[in-house]
Formats: sequence, C-alpha cells, structure tokens
Amino acid sequence: MATAVYPGTFDPITNGHVDIVERAARLFDGVIVAVADSVSAKTPVFPAEDRVLLARTAVGAIDNVEVKRFDSLLVDFAREQGAGVILRGLRAVSDFDYEFQLAGMNRRLAPDIETLFLTPTEQFAYISSSLVREIAGHGGNIDEFVHPSVAAAIHSRMNQH
Ligand code: COA
Repeated sequence: MATAVYPGTFDPITNGHVDIVERAARLFDGVIVAVADSVSAKTPVFPAEDRVLLARTAVGAIDNVEVKRFDSLLVDFAREQGAGVILRGLRAVSDFDYEFQLAGMNRRLAPDIETLFLTPTEQFAYISSSLVREIAGHGGNIDEFVHPSVAAAIHSRMNQH
C-alpha cells in the first residue's frame, strides 16, 4: 500500500518513534521519516543534519524506510515524494487536540492526502524526546529509550553545555 511520510522534529529520534516506523514499514511499501528543519514553536537542540543522521542510524535496519529532511509545508513534501499518507503516532489522549488540529488543517490544504494514526506499544507510551534529554541531563540512564548512537550523541551534547 504505497508510500507514507512520518513527520516530526526527531530531536532526537527515540525508540518510541522507531516502534511506530517498524509498524508502518509492515503496512506500507515505503516509509519516509521526514525530519522537519524547523518547527515554529520549538528550537531544536540538535541541528537538522544531526537529527537526520541519528534517525538514519536508528531505523537503518528496516529495509523499506528512508530518512529525509524537509523545510516546506508537510503536504507539499508528501506530494513531492509521491506519498498519499501522513502517519502520526498517538501516545495518549493529551496528544489528541494537537493531532486533530494538524490532521484537519492538512486535509484542508491537501484533501487527497490522508492522515493515519498508529499507537505505540505500551512500553513507549510515555517517551518524548525532551523527557529523554532531561533524564540524560540529570544523569539518568536513557539506554532503554534510545538507540546507543543516539544515547552517545545526547551525552556528548550534555557534556558540551
Ligand atoms: N515516541 C516518542 N515520542 C514521540 C512519539 C513517539 N511515538 N510521537 C511523538 N513523540 C514526541 C516527540 O518526541 C515530541 O516530544 P518533545 O516535543 O517533548 O520533544 C512530541 O511528541 C511531538 O513531536 P513530533 O511528533 O516530532 O511533532 P512535532 O510537533 O515536533 O512536529 C510537524 C510537527 C513537523 C509534523 C509539523 O510542525 C509540520 O508538519 N511542520 C511542517 C510545516 C507545515 O506543514 N506546517 C503546517 C501544518 S498544518
């Protein structure tokens, strides 16, 4: 069933994101992890090129997945890539309002592109990139939440600041 884009900031990618990508890769011919260059309400900690490289490392073992960076409207990027589906993860009810708004707006902009939601496995239902960074910043162990290369990148960034 064609190609889907899975957009986000991925600052950095966590095992929760990877879990969604693994599920999606079984449903679609191709999945594009779409790393947003910038997101209006956020100032990413990792530069876009690092977020792309870390995402590539984390999903590298999954055959039909590519990681690409984008700096345009998501629906335009999806069209450019020939993707008819935008995938988002829904972890909890608290994600719903924002996701509902995003999906509704994307539908207004591009009625031919569908947004589909996947839920992560329970074990990853509470992860977010900022929480993982915070745990690492306080010396906590993040090994169960991120790929080893991502953990190393977070620790090295923490040591610089
Ligand atoms: N596992 C772990 N964490 C997850 C997760 C999962 N399955 N799903 C979401 N998250 C977390 C992220 O880590 C992030 O946490 P943080 O903010 O604490 O770091 C949070 O949930 C939300 O991040 P994400 O899913 O990456 O969404 P986003 O809000 O950062 O990204 C875009 C939003 C990029 C999709 C959106 O801004 C966009 O489409 N931008 C392009 C421009 C555009 O088209 N704008 C108009 C849209 S109508």
